[in-house]
Amino acid sequence: MNTQKLLLGQTFETSGNPMTGPWQDAVRINSAGAVLIENDQIVRVADRDTLRRDAPQADVHDYGQHLICPGFVDAHVHYPQTAIIASWGKQLIDWLNTYTFPEEMRLHDPAYARQIAARYLDLALDHGTTTMCSYTTIHPGSVDAFFEAAATRGMRTVAGKTCMDRNAPDGLRDTAQSAYDESKALLARWHGKGRAQYAITPRFSPTSTPEQLSALGALWAEYPTCLMQTHLSEQPAEIDWVRQLFPDARDYLDTYEAHGLIGDRAVYGHAIHLQPREIDRIAETGAALVHCPTSNSFIGSGLMDVAGLATRRIPLGLATDTGGGSSFSMLRTMAAAYEIAQLRGTALHPAQLMWLATAGSARSLHLHTKIGTLAAGYEADLIILDLASTPAIAQRSAEADTIWETLFPTLMMGDDRAIADVWVAGQRRAASSG
Ligand code: GUN
Ligand code: ZN
Repeated sequence: MNTQKLLLGQTFETSGNPMTGPWQDAVRINSAGAVLIENDQIVRVADRDTLRRDAPQADVHDYGQHLICPGFVDAHVHYPQTAIIASWGKQLIDWLNTYTFPEEMRLHDPAYARQIAARYLDLALDHGTTTMCSYTTIHPGSVDAFFEAAATRGMRTVAGKTCMDRNAPDGLRDTAQSAYDESKALLARWHGKGRAQYAITPRFSPTSTPEQLSALGALWAEYPTCLMQTHLSEQPAEIDWVRQLFPDARDYLDTYEAHGLIGDRAVYGHAIHLQPREIDRIAETGAALVHCPTSNSFIGSGLMDVAGLATRRIPLGLATDTGGGSSFSMLRTMAAAYEIAQLRGTALHPAQLMWLATAGSARSLHLHTKIGTLAAGYEADLIILDLASTPAIAQRSAEADTIWETLFPTLMMGDDRAIADVWVAGQRRAASSG
């Protein structure tokens, strides 16, 4: 069987971080590019004439003027919230109590968890997302369901059991000890198995007692190659609540720091309303922050200072935050990131937006040596973007003078119709039935 595949198109190539230096030095698009895949790896990225000559035996997939990019990496999602995405009228705490917790309760049924995991992953792939870092529910079966469904699809994913031992309804609380024990058993089962990585996951300080945060901090110290994901400083009312629950803490971040939940493999979602001390500490420790722009406007949270945080060299990822976010699409998420940056006085360049959705998110998850970049030695998770996927986009890109102007309307107005093809671990995905 021929294991070499040659994909021809325009190629999105990165060699640095366009958030911390000139984007022109970090990102380029080769208008006559090609990617050579062997088994599940990218083996070369070069001009199409060169690779046609050097790999004459490869199966050729000619994508014309479509853009070949790394698959999108969604750095913060809640797959159990798939069925309640776009729920009306609430801000964070009411939204959790009204919509989220009742739905998460349903995942105590492993069959329902499997159904939602499959539905979520198929929707994500339809939208060009090949890797995500997901929360689950308190039920260990929800973690198994997710990793099993991801393995069936060959996807690289990160997830962990969401731990909560207070301020959640009956049936949706564990304890400090059971959170520790179940997380430990799950990470032993999944961390490093195939393409799975485990993230120790206290939901957020309001739903964990100090004892639970300490137990999970101790677990992370035992397994430091795991990520640790949680939420930080999303809404003012939430921050006030944290202040009441942790009267001795210096700030929200300190509620994690005091329990060993900070470090360079920490991934904090939202991080909108940060104090200077928190920013300094995050920058010092190398922890990553994840921008969830559709969620931050949908739930009414606020405008994250992406450009300012980037100047502190804090690793930044981009995420849908399904289902607090209002879309499964990283294209729609880039549009929201652009709009929020504009409201803060910065115009993010399309090169920066695309980087955040691929290599930047991969870096925030410590997966940047494996995914998120089109280069030799990377895993072959690729998507093909049609840059004229709707009449509205096509008529705008037809007027473009540069490739970036051609791409930008797809970032602003594109959706799953722009995803012309998806490759996962070197395998072309069959067209979705949906
Ligand atoms: N904070 C704690 N849990 C959640 C959640 O499920 N979604 C969002 N957006 N914020 C949270
Ligand atoms: Zn979240």
